[in-house]
Amino acid sequence: MSNYHIKNLEEYFQVYRRSVRNPENFWEEIAEEHFLWRKKWDNVLSWDFTKPEVKWFEGAQLNITENCIDRHLVTRGDKTAILFEPNNPNEDAEHITYKELYKRVNQFANVLKDKGIKKGDRVCIYLPMIPELAISLLACARIGAIHSVVFAGFSSTALATRINDSECKMVITSDGSYRGAKTIDLKSIVDEALEDCPTITDVLVVKRIHSDITLKEGRDVWLQPLLDKASTECTAEIMNAEDPLFILYTSGSTGKPKGMLHTTAGYMVYTAYTFKNVFQYRGNDVYWCTADIGWITGHSYIVYGPLANGATTVMFEGVPSYPDYSRFWQIVEKHKVNQFYTAPTAIRALAKEGLSHVESNDLSSLKILGTVGEPINEEAWHWYDDNIGKRKSPIVDTWWQTETGGIMITPIPYSTPTKPTYATLPFIGIQPALMDAEGNEVKGNQVEGRLCIKFPWPSMARTIWGNHQRYKDTYFSSFENKYFTGDGALRDEVGYYRITGRVDDVIIVSGHNLGTAPIEDAINEHPAVAESAIVGYPHDIKGNALYGYVILKDTGESRNQENLRIEINQIITEQIGPIAKLDKIQFTQGLPKTRSGKIMRRILRKIASNDISNLGDTSTLLNPEVVQGIIDQVLV
Ligand code: WTA
Repeated sequence: MSNYHIKNLEEYFQVYRRSVRNPENFWEEIAEEHFLWRKKWDNVLSWDFTKPEVKWFEGAQLNITENCIDRHLVTRGDKTAILFEPNNPNEDAEHITYKELYKRVNQFANVLKDKGIKKGDRVCIYLPMIPELAISLLACARIGAIHSVVFAGFSSTALATRINDSECKMVITSDGSYRGAKTIDLKSIVDEALEDCPTITDVLVVKRIHSDITLKEGRDVWLQPLLDKASTECTAEIMNAEDPLFILYTSGSTGKPKGMLHTTAGYMVYTAYTFKNVFQYRGNDVYWCTADIGWITGHSYIVYGPLANGATTVMFEGVPSYPDYSRFWQIVEKHKVNQFYTAPTAIRALAKEGLSHVESNDLSSLKILGTVGEPINEEAWHWYDDNIGKRKSPIVDTWWQTETGGIMITPIPYSTPTKPTYATLPFIGIQPALMDAEGNEVKGNQVEGRLCIKFPWPSMARTIWGNHQRYKDTYFSSFENKYFTGDGALRDEVGYYRITGRVDDVIIVSGHNLGTAPIEDAINEHPAVAESAIVGYPHDIKGNALYGYVILKDTGESRNQENLRIEINQIITEQIGPIAKLDKIQFTQGLPKTRSGKIMRRILRKIASNDISNLGDTSTLLNPEVVQGIIDQVLV
């Protein structure tokens, strides 16, 4: 019997040791006993980080939807698979059972097929958090199409870039979306994007807000009438273990987003296994992850991980502040949520609103609390522990990435003693390493370094779509034979890990990764701008906020700086989306640069953070006088 469900710390250590000593044997047992295969593998793992190439369960055949849906029909067909809570609390929640999910996924898959979508084709999904979003992912997977979900808060330009990068054939969207008291006109964003997307032949439109939209003849169709006509049976495409399952874009430190490619078997095994253990899911628990399916957290821990375990997974359409700040806790009470998984930024925002919003609700169903997306500060951790978990529900601070596919460093609740701000111990099979600036591994405890992983795990991304060289350069070139995460971390005296934050040019704002380069590129498009640099600075709720230093072109004209600030943020909103807007913009005469011409962001970060007492060595700068100029402006 494999150790599918870990129940105490001793078992964790024992299983961990086994998973590291003999990974092939360990993962083979998990895969064999807990999943449905059309054909077993010939080889569990082959890997070479120098290429880099990683293959898990090679030779195996399967379909992930048979694992997430079909196999549960006999044992739990009438159990709720997806519990949909609408934006408006007066609208009824929808309980979609496994049997219903089966039918709806198959109907949707048949519609895709009728539209000519085949195995390997890319389908872009740009939808709000409604059931059709989860169903469309599964429908693609049913027929072997590669889904590429784009978060519905991204702008038309960002959407077009992503569609074109992976040459999608189809977009699935809706007439609009509800977000709190607002409605958003999604379809017109899609229309705008598609002006520049030659590969798109079809658009399927879900009716959600019943707004008056136009359908482009020959391209756009309402989805529902097609679903109504479609058969509820669709034979699952037989996929090879390493066939692509999806592409999901993440920001990088250079301009273009990276289309991380995840494949089928390894992703399924790892997300399912982590879900079971990190959330200790049992029986008829109701599990709720508040992320959007537009991000990896939603892919792995709203859709695939929970459904592969036959769980009930909540999907919430709205926002934590609507109709008021008690909404999350109302939902916990209403659906008797047992596991609750959210982001530190949401915790901080809710903590700020005071306890009255919490106290009016019965939270006694909660057993486990989770956080993800950015480091959680000690204050937020304690607020969560005291007021939501009432000090009886362990907090799992889960560290992972779009690239890792699944949770990598985390406590196992009720087994690993938690410690505020620490993600604690590596998950089963994960071999972290901390590296120093010279590229040596820092061994022992009470040390700090750059966080790498030195052995493959099943759900790692296999490449960047269309650019394997960039994949190699970004993740496998900084440290020999290791995957480099881009994060810094420290290991304490007992071997617990604490993630200290990004060490590259990615800034995490409200849990969203933002590369500095794409934002700078957007700003530089403003005709008055000569150059710009973005840094993050600490923010009470968002974790980090964005500070832009902007040099204007010298045209001799005087300009209204307030208007320029508004225009710059407008360009950012158009090019990327409102999540990337700058909180502060300082117009400067110059930017501190090294002799090789690189912007010294370290200094800019300190000035933005109001920490100018110790700027470190500025003597190596090409233009040290610029620094004082910037500081003087701030002090004015
Ligand atoms: C950060 C989200 C500290 C980290 C699943 C990582 C965290 C990036 C944590 C990935 C955590 C995520 N503690 N930092 N528990 N979880 N991060 O790709 O910097 O959206 O590299 O994946 O978020 O963000 P991504």
